Amino acid sequence: MKKVLITGASGQLGVSLQLDDYDVIRTDIFPQVDQENFTILDITNKDKVKNLLEAEEPDVIVHLAAMTNVDSCEGNYEQAKLINVEGTKNLLNNFTGKFIFVSSDYVFDGEDGPYSEDDNVNPLNVYGKTKLEGEESVRKLSNDWVILRTNVVWNIGGNFKASFADWVVEELQNNRQIRIVADQWNNPAWTVDIGQVIETLIKYDANGLYHHGSSHVINRYDFACMIANVYELNPSLIEPITTKELNQTAQRPLKCGLITKKLENDFNFTPSDTVLDIKAAKSHTEI
Ligand SMILES: NC(=O)c1ccc[n+]([C@@H]2O[C@H](COP(=O)([O-])OP(=O)(O)OC[C@H]3O[C@@H](n4cnc5c(N)ncnc54)[C@H](OP(=O)(O)O)[C@@H]3O)[C@@H](O)[C@H]2O)c1
Repeated sequence: MKKVLITGASGQLGVSLQLDDYDVIRTDIFPQVDQENFTILDITNKDKVKNLLEAEEPDVIVHLAAMTNVDSCEGNYEQAKLINVEGTKNLLNNFTGKFIFVSSDYVFDGEDGPYSEDDNVNPLNVYGKTKLEGEESVRKLSNDWVILRTNVVWNIGGNFKASFADWVVEELQNNRQIRIVADQWNNPAWTVDIGQVIETLIKYDANGLYHHGSSHVINRYDFACMIANVYELNPSLIEPITTKELNQTAQRPLKCGLITKKLENDFNFTPSDTVLDIKAAKSHTEI
């Protein structure tokens, strides 16, 4: 049985990664209470990374650990670089097997998305720049890699601090008015769908750069309204606003999203419908 080591396994995406057919070692800087086979690993600690990889000798690393708060990254370039770039290099410098790196559509400037794998990158913010530097390290330091770019990763019911979908549900359930940008476009990816794609990439020993996302590019306001409708909450509590009005710390790429044709052609991947995904996520949390 192949051994797979996951970094960032307690995060939003990590907890959705099942990998039932593999011997899985889950690592993160902090544990989730109920994870089996869990080891604490700070990827910025070179010695700890080296020791763990020497002891475990995984066949595959799925590297999810990252500083993911886009606005926090903006004021903290050194910290973002330490985690998103140097942490990635620490793993690569001690590993020769299959390295799967999850990256982001924020490597693009959002002038004319959605983007394919051949399009030119031009990140606008520190998060995007450090994810791109992470990608460059992967290409340079590994001979056996996959870079999977995905976008607006979401999950409902996992209690993650950065979960947009949970925040929408909670605010509307409490009858609170929320303001959501209607000019940021992506094709949001449910963590369960990304988990299945990662499993496929491992199974078929994939190599190279792949883009992932759902079937339709939508704006964030529409996404929030879809969540409200599926959860039978009041969408009129959601006010559409512009990115300029929201005045976020980090500049956002506006017309983003990822074209998934390469995944479809190479692995028979069918991009999922976001409304059906939200319904499935809702039924998961009701079990
Ligand atoms: N979220 C998105 O919309 C999105 C979009 C495209 C790509 N991605 C990429 O997908 C991957 C997973 O994202 P996610 O949404 O699951 O993010 P997440 O919930 O923030 O998960 C990342 C995990 O990495 C951990 N971590 C942070 N610093 C670490 C360190 N030094 N050593 C070990 N672990 C550390 C985090 O712990 P703390 O929470 O304690 O910091 C967290 O548990 C990331 O690589 C991200 O860049 C995300």
